[in-house]
Amino acid sequence: MEAPQHATACQIVIQLARIGVIAAVTYYCAKWLVSTIDPTNLAKKKAKEQAKLQLKKINKFANAGKELKLCDFNCHELMIASHLVAPSDIEVCWADIAGLDGVVQELRESVVLPVRHRNLFKHSQLWRPPKGVLLHGPPGCGKTLIAKAIARDAGMRFINLEVAVLTDKWYGESQKLAAAVFSLAHKLQPCIIFIDEIESFLRVRTSGDHEATAMMKTQFMMLWDGLVSDASCSVLVLGATNRPQDLDKAILRRMPAQFHIGLPQEQQRLQILNLILMQERLHPLVDLAKLAAMTPGYSGSDLRELCRHASVYRMRSFMRDIINSAEGGKANGECLLLSSELCIVMEDLVKSLVTMNASKLQTGCGVLGKAPDLD
Ligand SMILES: Nc1ncnc2c1ncn2[C@@H]1O[C@H](COP(=O)(O)OP(=O)(O)O)[C@@H](O)[C@H]1O
Ligand SMILES: [Mg+2]
Repeated sequence: MEAPQHATACQIVIQLARIGVIAAVTYYCAKWLVSTIDPTNLAKKKAKEQAKLQLKKINKFANAGKELKLCDFNCHELMIASHLVAPSDIEVCWADIAGLDGVVQELRESVVLPVRHRNLFKHSQLWRPPKGVLLHGPPGCGKTLIAKAIARDAGMRFINLEVAVLTDKWYGESQKLAAAVFSLAHKLQPCIIFIDEIESFLRVRTSGDHEATAMMKTQFMMLWDGLVSDASCSVLVLGATNRPQDLDKAILRRMPAQFHIGLPQEQQRLQILNLILMQERLHPLVDLAKLAAMTPGYSGSDLRELCRHASVYRMRSFMRDIINSAEGGKANGECLLLSSELCIVMEDLVKSLVTMNASKLQTGCGVLGKAPDLD
């Protein structure tokens, strides 16, 4: 009587084992198939590799006992960590920023000092760095430079958050990534979450927003609030924008410290030109004060471009001279002599200015005060 019962029990176990194996094989096959047809899979793998590299770098400079282990981070945090910059990797310092002394001093005193000396004023409720800082102003005036200099001076880790990283085709993934930004920053603190062109991500919410985008924005703000209420946390959200008017009011409220980085005035342009051309060989007759007066409406990045063009013009005319002298039968030594005299002259800078003014007019971004004085 017992044998057939035993046989049935055995059969059930075998059947269950079969079902288990088939389920496992189906699960792994489906997983493999999804990852193979997912076009972002390769990018994700690369991001994780990059994140591991960055975390290792940060560990090298971490204080003893504060070592970060890869296993402390989940896969979403590792995705975000690929955009991590260690303070040691940031090359920009305050000395690389010219003509913005007032803003720089204000930022150093209100943001950097409270972070660097956070233990000194632990007891104070008021002397704390702001949790949100907004830099706004026209493009090319130094907002990104300032953000990097803050991170380096304050010794903060820097998450350069690109909005594209947060968008994922799977429903719910974007929210997980948004949450990972804050949890990662919390684990890495002191840390800056830098969002360049923040208006593209956190612009005014409208009824036309996609559901997933609207949810991500709302969640981002809620997480940010969590950060603000945690007094001991040194995480700072630093935003930069050319269009502060497009930003959601709720975001502006979360960024109490706002700094306008405007187009440089004549004196500031002179300081920027001096900085850009500091390492270059200039002809003694180059008058940078005059050049600064001739460039109203030029941003720091325009001035840099102007100087770059001027040095290209100089180099091109030098190369032409070499070719001509080679054809004329001059020796190599004479060319070397010429190269030691290679320096940017006023004519190169003015020529570059005229070309840039013309192209600015064509593209409709010219803010010209008067035509350059060519005498
Ligand atoms: N105040 C400045 N001092 C020195 N260089 C500047 C300044 N402003 C802009 N630049 C130059 O312009 C480039 C672009 O500046 P960036 O900070 O990216 O501008 P923004 O973020 O405001 O658009 C910088 O890499 C730098 O070479
Ligand atoms: Mg920028």
